[in-house]
Amino acid sequence: MLFVKPSLLKERGIIGMNRRNVDYIARYNDRKLYPIVDNKLITKEYAKKHNIAVPELINSIQYQFEIKQLEKILTGIDKFVVKPAQGAGGKGILVITDRKGDIFYKPSGKEVTFDDIKRHISNILSGLHSLGGKTDVAMFEKLVDFDPVFEPYSYEGVPDVRMIVFQGYPIMAMLRCSTHESDGKANLHQGAVGVGIDIKTGRSLFAVQDGRMIEKHPDTGSAFSELQVPHWEEILPLSAACYEMTGMGYLGCDIVIDKNLGALILEVNARPGLAIQIANDEGLLKRLKMVEEHAPKSTSPEERVKYSLEHFATD
Ligand SMILES: Nc1ncnc2c1ncn2[C@@H]1O[C@H](COP(=O)(O)OP(=O)(O)O)[C@@H](O)[C@H]1O
Ligand SMILES: [Mg+2]
Repeated sequence: MLFVKPSLLKERGIIGMNRRNVDYIARYNDRKLYPIVDNKLITKEYAKKHNIAVPELINSIQYQFEIKQLEKILTGIDKFVVKPAQGAGGKGILVITDRKGDIFYKPSGKEVTFDDIKRHISNILSGLHSLGGKTDVAMFEKLVDFDPVFEPYSYEGVPDVRMIVFQGYPIMAMLRCSTHESDGKANLHQGAVGVGIDIKTGRSLFAVQDGRMIEKHPDTGSAFSELQVPHWEEILPLSAACYEMTGMGYLGCDIVIDKNLGALILEVNARPGLAIQIANDEGLLKRLKMVEEHAPKSTSPEERVKYSLEHFATD
């Protein structure tokens, strides 16, 4: 993943897994809070309680015997996403963007039948894609209709903004853009592109795919240097508010921008990945230390955003 010398990484304040796990996740994320973020159905409940906008839940299936009702559940629904409530890394997510009669279509145009979806749900319930292989629940979510600004940058899928929020301060951001390879999902391990985003302006910094810097989207050929994330001023306070919503000191939230609904929280992660540092060409350490040592404690999301805008701009 990283193609640079370890000494250079240290100098640039790039943190590795060990340090992230011990100094940040273990120290700032109380274990009893994990269910709030590790189960996307519970995350949605907490988001509602805190007036945080999320993609709408259409339905959910918990037991194998319920699968036979799928035709009924999907009556009149031709765009949706099915995902494991306790999944991660884009695993087990099926994105459906169109339907003709009993045939559904993935963003790539690939056909999917009712039987395919039933098999997929059965696998989700048995825990195939879930943390620790535990039995799981399949959730149906409304398909996010992404902002047309992203069309040149995201191929066959909805991009999301990953924000690292430390003690409630948004400290580093990355836009993740789907590719043909990532099959409708914006997760880096599925082959999506990560684009570092300047906290102050919402403009692109660098783009990486599979740990390598790239200039253009591999499918559309659009140059990432032109990219400006819309609704940036909405995204910052929304991500900051994930602190009050979850109580977690170190988190990564995923935000999608719906054409009609604006910024929505897709999910919150208690163990966000570290590749965001590569996409920003900057380590997290300096910003983490800045918050730990200098930022005022327990201010409102708006106050914290103000601080982040002043201190975490890339110049
Ligand atoms: N409701 C949705 N509409 C459109 N795309 C979605 C939706 N939910 C998820 N996706 C796509 O799948 C990716 C992963 O979804 P997410 O809910 O964050 O699950 P995971 O925990 O596996 O990362 C998103 O980044 C997005 O590209
Ligand atoms: Mg995610």
